[in-house]
Amino acid sequence: MAEVGLNAPQNARILAVANQKGGVGKTTTTINLATALAAVGKRVLVLDLDPQGNASTGLGVDQSEREINAYHVMIGEASLDAATLDTQVPGLSVVSSGVDLSGAEIELIEVENRLFRLKSALIGFADRYDYIFIDCPPALGLLTVNALNAAHAVLVPLQCEFFALEGLSHLVRTIERIKTSYNPGLEIQGIVLTMFDARNNLSDAVASDVREFFGAIVYDTVIPRNVRVSEAPSYGKPVLLYDVGCAGSQAYIHLASEVLKREKIVSNLNNGKNR
Ligand SMILES: Nc1ncnc2c1ncn2[C@@H]1O[C@H](COP(=O)(O)OP(=O)(O)OP(=O)(O)O)[C@@H](O)[C@H]1O
Ligand SMILES: [Mg+2]
Repeated sequence: MAEVGLNAPQNARILAVANQKGGVGKTTTTINLATALAAVGKRVLVLDLDPQGNASTGLGVDQSEREINAYHVMIGEASLDAATLDTQVPGLSVVSSGVDLSGAEIELIEVENRLFRLKSALIGFADRYDYIFIDCPPALGLLTVNALNAAHAVLVPLQCEFFALEGLSHLVRTIERIKTSYNPGLEIQGIVLTMFDARNNLSDAVASDVREFFGAIVYDTVIPRNVRVSEAPSYGKPVLLYDVGCAGSQAYIHLASEVLKREKIVSNLNNGKNR
């Protein structure tokens, strides 16, 4: 059986980074995982599906470069190809977002196939990449549903704080519903604990609750709360470029290798199935 090597023709794995709770580290995780995978030679795309446009800003995309963005793709006015920009990270591209995207939810209400706009746009395009990360907005509306319908798997950042688990069960139910109704192959790639504060007992308590409840699906790697991580976006840089030695960067490098390990298991399983 042929190994799925670095340069072997292979369809992209599409990972939606989602959690309807705001400010849990979706964008930070998207940017830095994508950067870490590009750094090991993967062809990676970040698709910014959040009208806030934080992933675009964090990757250094100027407002003036966003004339063609995810909004135009979603409403069918532009192809993903036309919306794709290079970033300062070799091997990493981005489809930016714009505030118009918040209107797309309403504009698409009457449109046929509105839950699969993104999936359709990715056909024939996705195979240029090894990994496509979709940075979702903090809601379970039409944009996130489009991401979940287009994705192979979901990566869930979870901030170590009191209400974390409550929101998570809602997200898991939504993923199950999408799986049953629209996207049977959808799985949770993993749950990553973010902004962990070792000095805070609550962080510890939440982390062990989450591990007890969700077991091995929670990544071993925990992302610490680290000021360098929060500074990096204001320089338009992934923290891996801003300060590769800081604890946050090192954690994202570890997380990337865990993600790749899980991906390898999936790919081996699929190859086994295809034999
Ligand atoms: N490990 C970390 N250490 C310190 N600050 C962090 C860390 N991760 C994220 N932050 C900061 O926390 C804030 C929220 O993070 P981020 O934007 O990634 O969350 P989000 O889930 O994408 O938010 P939204 O739901 O608004 O899209 C940002 O200001 C970010 O810089
Ligand atoms: Mg975000």
